[in-house]
Amino acid sequence: MKRVLSLFTPSGRPTLGNLLGAFLPSVRLLPAADCVFGVSDLHALTSEHDPALLRERSLELAGLAVAAGLDPDRCLLFLQSNVPAHAELSYLLESTAHYGEMQRMIQFREKSARQSAVRLSLLTYPALMAADILLYQATDVPVGADQAQHVELTRDLATRFNNRYGPVFTLPHAVHPPAAARVMDLADPVAKMSKSVDSPGTIFLLDPVDVVRRKIMRAVTDSGTSVEFDPEAKPGVSNLLSILSACTGTPVADLSPGSYGALKRDTADAVIALLEPLQRRHAELSADPATLEAILRDGAERARERAAGTVTAAKEAMGLLAA
Ligand code: TYM
Repeated sequence: MKRVLSLFTPSGRPTLGNLLGAFLPSVRLLPAADCVFGVSDLHALTSEHDPALLRERSLELAGLAVAAGLDPDRCLLFLQSNVPAHAELSYLLESTAHYGEMQRMIQFREKSARQSAVRLSLLTYPALMAADILLYQATDVPVGADQAQHVELTRDLATRFNNRYGPVFTLPHAVHPPAAARVMDLADPVAKMSKSVDSPGTIFLLDPVDVVRRKIMRAVTDSGTSVEFDPEAKPGVSNLLSILSACTGTPVADLSPGSYGALKRDTADAVIALLEPLQRRHAELSADPATLEAILRDGAERARERAAGTVTAAKEAMGLLAA
């Protein structure tokens, strides 16, 4: 049986990119796999953050994950900071990783270039992400394209550790959705849609539906009039086609909206058809915070049990515990 794992960072409000790149592909894997999902709140400390908001954002993200279909009866759902083994294994993996390979990570280079005081945890973050994955011996990691390099690094660290100390870790691989592995900003379709960038082209999962429609109808398209999938020459149109394909499950090649206007209308309808039920379920959950707290408490307890065996095996292999 596959073991699936993915985490989501509460560093801003979740977007359509998170839904199409990670939540929905994860939901599709639920029936055929042993699934672990979490809110990576420790990862949110890698950049300037508001302590008063962090917990609120973490609970909102967990609620949205459930509302998107990550049913806690069929998977494990928890907050990363409630499972101390993540930080513990992260240190063991930092002691397996090299400074140079951390510095080469694209996300580190991009994010550190935008900040004057770069937190050390931003550099070491991929070791924590590797710990998230390796703790549960995950085989499949559903993520957007932006996380592919971190999953590759996880494989490298696991391989190096296993070769040096003994076979402790399963090698995972990234699973990307067929469309929308990289949802682009509607107002700037050569940039990734991001929860940490304040742009009129970002669709937040809790945006009112009339706002969603307006953002899509105002999406930047390209010169010309023909609707063609060509991300280089027509990034705006190609982004809308990818979103429409991911929302409807119809391959891009089979979509044929006649005009830019029709493409925008169809895309807005399809996105709203996904968001309306999600927002309804989220509102129900928000009205009953005790239920979500109980889900996360139970998830953390089960995660702690599962993670303990891997940490012990890693410590034994490294000579920290008697085997
Ligand atoms: P995060 O919180 O930035 O994003 C959560 C998930 O959403 C995907 N995603 C996108 N997919 C398509 N288009 C987009 N515009 C887009 N924006 C975000 C991300 O690829 C991700 O799958 N480091 C991770 C969280 C993490 C993790 C892990 C993931 C921590 N530990 C272990 C997998 C396994 C992150 O910050 O994702």
